[in-house]
Amino acid sequence: MADLTLDQLEVGKPVKIEKDGKSICVARVGDEVFAVDDTCSHSEASLSEGEVTDFKIECWLHGAEFDLRTGAALTLPANISLATYAVKIDGNSVTVEI
Ligand code: FES
Repeated sequence: MADLTLDQLEVGKPVKIEKDGKSICVARVGDEVFAVDDTCSHSEASLSEGEVTDFKIECWLHGAEFDLRTGAALTLPANISLATYAVKIDGNSVTVEI
């Protein structure tokens, strides 16, 4: 079953979903959709409240940036990568695979 629809995902406006006990940040970049852990690897902030620029998401709390494609921590104060999840798009349906 789909977790979201593409219509629900505005470019630059990440959405937080809960799935299998995990909080996941789902972000659309153009026609692609990426899913990473929603909780910043630096502390307890929700990345879905952060800002997306190109393939980067910036944590609103202390400004760490992560690559949405790989989960890599790009700037301090975060230095631990985020887990990433595969995303399946089927028509308008978006499913995060855990
Ligand atoms: S909680 Fe995200 S950078 Fe500190």
